[in-house]
Amino acid sequence: MLVENQRARKISYPSSLKAVLSIEKAIESRNWLRTWSKIARDATPLYELAGLAAKLNIASVAVKDESARSVLGSFKALGAPVALVRLVLRLWPEHNLDPRGLFEGRYREMLTHFTVISATDGNHGKGLAAAAQTLGCHCVIVLHANVSKEREQAIAAFGAKIVRIAGNYDESVEEAARLASTHGWHVVSDTSYEGYEDIPRDVMQGYGTIAAEVVDQSRSRPEQSAFTHVFLQGGVGGLAAGLASYLWEFHGDRRPRFVVVEPRQADCLYQSALEGRAARATGSVDSVMAGLACGETSPLAWRFLESCVDHFMTIADDDAVAAMRTLASGSEADIPIVAGESGAAGLAGLTVLLRDKQFSKQAGLDESSRVLLINTEGATAPQTYGELVGETAEAVLARQSAWQPKVAV
Ligand SMILES: Cc1ncc(COP(=O)(O)O)c(C=O)c1O
Repeated sequence: MLVENQRARKISYPSSLKAVLSIEKAIESRNWLRTWSKIARDATPLYELAGLAAKLNIASVAVKDESARSVLGSFKALGAPVALVRLVLRLWPEHNLDPRGLFEGRYREMLTHFTVISATDGNHGKGLAAAAQTLGCHCVIVLHANVSKEREQAIAAFGAKIVRIAGNYDESVEEAARLASTHGWHVVSDTSYEGYEDIPRDVMQGYGTIAAEVVDQSRSRPEQSAFTHVFLQGGVGGLAAGLASYLWEFHGDRRPRFVVVEPRQADCLYQSALEGRAARATGSVDSVMAGLACGETSPLAWRFLESCVDHFMTIADDDAVAAMRTLASGSEADIPIVAGESGAAGLAGLTVLLRDKQFSKQAGLDESSRVLLINTEGATAPQTYGELVGETAEAVLARQSAWQPKVAV
């Protein structure tokens, strides 16, 4: 399914949005994050997949590989940690805390009685737990019934207390809010709701690091993006808003086309495009793409997406699994990449569009298209990854290390 967003505009980045998310703040977040030991010091790789581009009959495909961002295995390591640090700075302004010092754990004693809490599908909770462990505060994570045991263990490994509920994601959000108000804890959520925008704004701002690196690595200039199309996978919309806002501010009316991809059963952004306001998903909100299995759009994210995302589309679980396998297999021309279920969704969306002449035409995809995809996670659920791809993540990584581009003689 594909819908063209009639509200999308190719205009310069509005000042009303710049007051919320800006390149300036994204760069500040990036500089703070660099001092955190759980984040890679260098930019994550931007791989050119020439073999895949030739197969798909487009000019180029580049994959920004966020699986290499951190030990946490996903881009979410950029969001919650920044939001937590900014929250602490807001709560104790009189202490003149050094944000880099917080990322170095220098204020642990001061924070021993401070507790943060969040509901999560996995990756956000892991990011929050890891950041809380570094800063020295307590972290409680509320998991809904469908979060796998291996995702739970990965969060608990960073010292978080786990609360498991019988209900779905939305109910876990309610439970987190209830526990926070009962105990005086602070909710650090990646999604916004009425009266709760500062923290999700800071989470999205952290994701701007990815766009900043892409601009440098692709040598994009304000007047010319290296890409015609950017595919962004959608959960509540935070990743898409964090990246699209940055690239929109950078390129202005020369911005690339943005395409948001969601699971068919968790189509809250697609429904938002149809209804013209932040909406709920129509499906079961249960998908193999665990990170994208979100029932409700973040209204704050929607403020950005409604006027810059050109197309919203949905994919089937099988499309995502096929894309995981394509990226894992690599070829003589393409380095093998470990992409988790949600990480591969961008390639799945691109493949679905290129399979259908009408869709390709609608999305303006042809042999001159230069496409950017974001692999937002590696094998964050290693057992599931092995079952779906038929090879362990370690084996794919070993092939990645051994891979050499074939040089013509
Ligand atoms: C791996 C992965 N990709 C993409 C997303 C989507 O991000 P958002 O919910 O901010 O739209 C998530 C969300 O958890 C995720 O875990």
